[in-house]
Amino acid sequence: MTAKTIGIIGGGQLGRMLAMAAARLNFQTVILEPQADCPAAQMASDQIIAAYDDPAALAELAKRCDVVTYEFENVPVIAAEELAKDVPVYPPPKALEMAQDRLTEKRFINDCGISTARFHAVDSQADLEVALADFGGQGVLKTRRLGYDGKGQRVYRSSADSAEGGYAALGSVPLILESFVSFEREISIIAARGLDGAIACYDPAENIHRDGILHTSTLPASISTETATVAREAAEKLLAALGYVGVIGIEFFALPDGSLIANEMAPRVHNSGHWTEAACVVSQFEQHIRAVTGLPLGNPVRHSDCVMQNLIGDDILSVPDWLRQDNVLVHLYGKTESRPGRKMGHITQLHR
Ligand SMILES: Nc1ncnc2c1ncn2[C@@H]1O[C@H](COP(=O)(O)OP(=O)(O)O)[C@@H](O)[C@H]1O
Ligand SMILES: [Mg+2]
Repeated sequence: MTAKTIGIIGGGQLGRMLAMAAARLNFQTVILEPQADCPAAQMASDQIIAAYDDPAALAELAKRCDVVTYEFENVPVIAAEELAKDVPVYPPPKALEMAQDRLTEKRFINDCGISTARFHAVDSQADLEVALADFGGQGVLKTRRLGYDGKGQRVYRSSADSAEGGYAALGSVPLILESFVSFEREISIIAARGLDGAIACYDPAENIHRDGILHTSTLPASISTETATVAREAAEKLLAALGYVGVIGIEFFALPDGSLIANEMAPRVHNSGHWTEAACVVSQFEQHIRAVTGLPLGNPVRHSDCVMQNLIGDDILSVPDWLRQDNVLVHLYGKTESRPGRKMGHITQLHR
């Protein structure tokens, strides 16, 4: 195999784990990230220190790399499209476009025949009031763009919750009001599509969030095999519709009757797929590297039950305890400063 160089836009922990997986397969990696000594650059061959949309930096990335990928979904679509004229960019920029805006994303998911929560675009306080009235006063108001870890959201639980000032409270930017889904549990599926169109899906994980941030992903999820099949089929439809290459993470709400409602998709490796590095022979990170470099996809079968737990902020202090436990894989992200809500690492505990 000839060694190739992979460009990665974004320098966080996902880029770090991609760079580590790439190195094991003899690939070089170049990280584009404005922050020097970022988590990804510590593990990569080199870093270009510049903004994600800096034309000179993108030109340099195209020149130095055989393929470019990204580790976060807010890469400017224009930058990805320009880059794609000079070098293959995977996942395709269309996936960024569909995932960056919750309204576009929901319409696209529905067009693929997959249900989502009902929704209304909200571009004013008056829109919010009309939309809330339509949903009986309940709903989740979200910024259409740039939300993550539950940021940029407001929940309306009943018509007793006043809508007043809701539009301004989220910054008077384009919003979406989603109907409130009374889910039984949340699951996600990590899937990959290769350059040859082959698809590999990991088993769905069951996710628990705390303060809007993923806390644990548990395998297996407490869902029926039928529900797992529905998740896999939804992933296959989305991947095919996007002409996708790489790993995608798709979040779903599971209802008490076992049916699924898609929540959102991330065109990248996903926090709820970190367990794959401990419980599968080929992790989501290696799978992504394989996909974007045209290698055959790896077997996604899970050899162990497990729980992945994020180490957020001061959770990092528990690392010495985790290190004393059997069957626990500790993974730290090289961040020197711990702050509340900051993802510092994760552990995966294998059960059998
Ligand atoms: N329509 C909804 N109904 C009920 N709960 C929701 C809804 N949308 C989001 N949530 C809750 O908020 C969490 C974060 O929302 P999500 O859309 O996934 O945004 P983020 O991009 O911040 O992950 C979800 O994991 C879920 O627990
Ligand atoms: Mg989410």
